[in-house]
Amino acid sequence: MCGIIGFSGPLTASTKPLEVCLQGLGRLEYRGYDSAGVALVAPGMHHIAYEKKAGRLSNLEKELERHPLPEATVGIGHTRWATNGEPSDVNAHPHLSADNRVAVIHNGIIENANKLKFDLQAKGINFISDTDTEVAAKLLGVVANQVEQEQGKANLMEAMRRTAKMLEGTFTLLAVDVREPQVVVGARHDSPLVVGEGDGESFLGSDVAAFVAYTNKAIEVGQDEVVRIEGGDIQITDFDGNSVEPQHFTVDWDASAAEKGGWPSFMDKEIHEDPQAVAETLMGRFDLQGHITLDELHVSVEELKSVDKIIVVACGTASYAGLVAKYAIEHWVRIPVEVELAHEFRYRDPILTPRTLVIAISQSGETMDTLMAIRHAREQGSKVLALCNTQGSSIPRESDAVLYTHAGPEVAVASTKAFVAQITAAYLVGLYLAQVKNVMFADEIQEVLRSLRQMPQKIQWVLDNDVDVVKKTAHKLVDSKAFLFLGRHVGYPVALEGALKLKEIAYTFTEGFAAGELKHGPIALVDEGTPVVVIVPSARNRNVLHSKVISNIEEVKARGAYTITVAEEGDPDAEKYADTVFYRPACPTLMSPLVDVVPLQLFSMYMAEAKGNDVDKPRNLAKSVTVE
Ligand code: F6R
Repeated sequence: MCGIIGFSGPLTASTKPLEVCLQGLGRLEYRGYDSAGVALVAPGMHHIAYEKKAGRLSNLEKELERHPLPEATVGIGHTRWATNGEPSDVNAHPHLSADNRVAVIHNGIIENANKLKFDLQAKGINFISDTDTEVAAKLLGVVANQVEQEQGKANLMEAMRRTAKMLEGTFTLLAVDVREPQVVVGARHDSPLVVGEGDGESFLGSDVAAFVAYTNKAIEVGQDEVVRIEGGDIQITDFDGNSVEPQHFTVDWDASAAEKGGWPSFMDKEIHEDPQAVAETLMGRFDLQGHITLDELHVSVEELKSVDKIIVVACGTASYAGLVAKYAIEHWVRIPVEVELAHEFRYRDPILTPRTLVIAISQSGETMDTLMAIRHAREQGSKVLALCNTQGSSIPRESDAVLYTHAGPEVAVASTKAFVAQITAAYLVGLYLAQVKNVMFADEIQEVLRSLRQMPQKIQWVLDNDVDVVKKTAHKLVDSKAFLFLGRHVGYPVALEGALKLKEIAYTFTEGFAAGELKHGPIALVDEGTPVVVIVPSARNRNVLHSKVISNIEEVKARGAYTITVAEEGDPDAEKYADTVFYRPACPTLMSPLVDVVPLQLFSMYMAEAKGNDVDKPRNLAKSVTVE
């Protein structure tokens, strides 16, 4: 939540801080789009130059055209998802110190803001916004003046360290000071921050998307650390001023991967990248004999052999990927797998032992609920394995091991390609566990891997064949007030995911549930014309679930439902009771979520488009939820 960018270049730089900030904010807008702002500093300035506007980044850009800011040497920029104070010009970031010497942008929530504000007000400092960030800015201004008095020169880094120690809650703060016009300082506590290393220039960002157009060399900033950039010079310390060894990494995608590239929306582009996300996540992780090598896991074979229970912690779409994986891993490895929403897990008293493997699934690697859950699990002595899509993010950093999904940058707020990549990665972990524990024959593993390898092609088949019918159906049902989604077995989490997609971008009341629950309550919702989407399992191998789901379709149909089935090509039963069928090619049951979800992703997108919604930036949401 909230996108943050900072830039410091050489005095003669052709790269302009304002340009860098606006570029970066454009790429970070998925992190929040309630308001945006920039602050600039150049030598000789006595006051911060800044502009901020409520609404999308384009509002800020228009304002900057009307009232241009002076040339600068450093800049910071912010795109906001409001937590404290409504979205408005005054609440937008940056916020300034009382003497306009220092500007601050912030991601997170400062929990002791009221107390600090009260103390500052007692010293005669006035506040103009409702934000906790203004408290941090006013406080940093006071501390910066104190430090300057003590040391005889400005030292924003020291001021930031002292300020950070006074703050409670979660924060990434970036600040500039007119007295150090080449410097940007950042601090992080429970919120993301990465550094970009350019040639004689440096960047700070809430994720690498902020600066990947300029450099793919990056440094992770750790928990409770402060970073100072001045041109190409980068210093990192902890809050006490002790130097920290930088953790360098190289971003493995380039800026074009995070561009629309001719697609009408990022969501459309990313759905069409589903096949690639699966293929890339599989790549190089097993050989043709079916031997899986996950060298990057850094968990010893002994430790894996001793695992007697898995708990998957995640939120939203990632949790549904975990739920799909539960069916597969329990089937293959024969150990219990629990799937729990990270925010529920953290605040009960889960049973964790050193033999419990906690798998944290997260696209962004920054979801605060998931981060808190893994901290709790590690405190209890369990090992944590992260399945994550974002290098340099907090969740892999704080886990014992990580297996990256290689979906590439996901920009649309609604997660699509990350979901199929998460299922793929979780399947690899399950099969690897089966291999290590010796509970499956090598040829059985090989057979599953063969099916997995075919999935990118099968997903492509759905994309090539289903688009028209899905679009037509979405347009036909655009005025429907509510939808039901149902499925059994792995079709159940797919139903939940299909329902979530429709809620979040089409703003339609939607309920997803296990089809077996139908007669235990939800069928009362079915009325003449109620659209019901049903995930139909394959009929092959006398799959007992198939006939049960067909009966469920008959039941809702008999009560007037408009039925849409996601079914295997040529399934006569699915056709018989369906008003519309979204076909998928034949595949084994455990593989079917990877194809079944695709028409549902498309369906929600077309429905949202038909309603005139912004499919990439749905209302009230932000891409990564970095506060609890
Ligand atoms: C839905 C969606 C969210 C995320 C959830 C977890 O489309 O994107 O439900 O899946 O917020 O986010 P990550 O995976 O970044 O931890």
